[in-house]
Amino acid sequence: MEPAQKERTPFSDIDGLTASMSEMVLAALTEMGRHPEIRRVRRTGVDALRPALGARLLDAGSGSGEVARKLAAEVGPRGEVIALDHSAAITAAAVSRHDGSNVRYVVGDVGDLDLPDDCVDGVWCERVLQHVDDADRAIGELCRVTRPGGRLCLIDTDWDSLAFDGMPPRLWDTVARYVNRHFTPPQRDMGRTLRRRLVAAGLSGLTATPVTCLFGSPDSAAVVLPMVNPRVPADSWHAPLGLRDEWLACVEAAGARGDFLAVLTIWVVAGTVPDGLAPLGGISPR
Ligand SMILES: C[S@@+](CC[C@H](N)C(=O)[O-])C[C@H]1O[C@@H](n2cnc3c(N)ncnc32)[C@H](O)[C@@H]1O
Repeated sequence: MEPAQKERTPFSDIDGLTASMSEMVLAALTEMGRHPEIRRVRRTGVDALRPALGARLLDAGSGSGEVARKLAAEVGPRGEVIALDHSAAITAAAVSRHDGSNVRYVVGDVGDLDLPDDCVDGVWCERVLQHVDDADRAIGELCRVTRPGGRLCLIDTDWDSLAFDGMPPRLWDTVARYVNRHFTPPQRDMGRTLRRRLVAAGLSGLTATPVTCLFGSPDSAAVVLPMVNPRVPADSWHAPLGLRDEWLACVEAAGARGDFLAVLTIWVVAGTVPDGLAPLGGISPR
């Protein structure tokens, strides 16, 4: 399959990574799923989606399939979850973790879904749209496949909200120039723009919840923030080695003093697909 993204992040083209990087990405997703702050984001998402028993859901950009399997438990044995991801490698990994629940794993592009109109009751799409070129087109596709009255729950990061304490601010300003180019996606504002995108797509009953994740130690932060994770290979920084080392030393020192702090807001935005939704540009009519 042709990559759907022109601007690459590791998550936008997992199949294009080396085997060891791809394994690292999978391990990172698994670790993130266990992090209490990501769990808090997901609980907020489930409350916003309100999955009903017997519902058919789509998890678009499902990664390791962990959330799809949790959603399958929510919809029960008469429900179903389609776990769709662009990466064949991550889909194979998700299949290998299958637990017998009602999840069907498929490879596909959220911007061009090979699914009929109105075929699901709800959609979950977590930390995916920041990696795609045309998020509005993808949202149009998610609306198209959702029946009228069904719900969309979109979860995404606002990378501009990332802030630290305990480190020299000027050093972070310099480091951020590299980080913003190589670790965070071009759509840095995806989280906070989700609500506006759903307004434009014509959804009703919108809820938008900013969940500010707090990381009180470098170890806790490293699970979600690659720029404080010393295990991320030095060459993926594309920054002067001395700068990376100085930054990571400051992170470690702040951790040792006990005054390290990082915050990042992840948005949970949900809405209901109304009857007779007008198609968005480039999307085939319902
Ligand atoms: C940061 S991961 C999030 C995975 C999962 N939603 C989670 O929260 O654990 C982003 C996922 O989106 C997938 N992805 C990226 N672009 C995609 C696209 N155009 N269509 C479908 N999936 C895509 C990636 O392969 C990756 O698994």
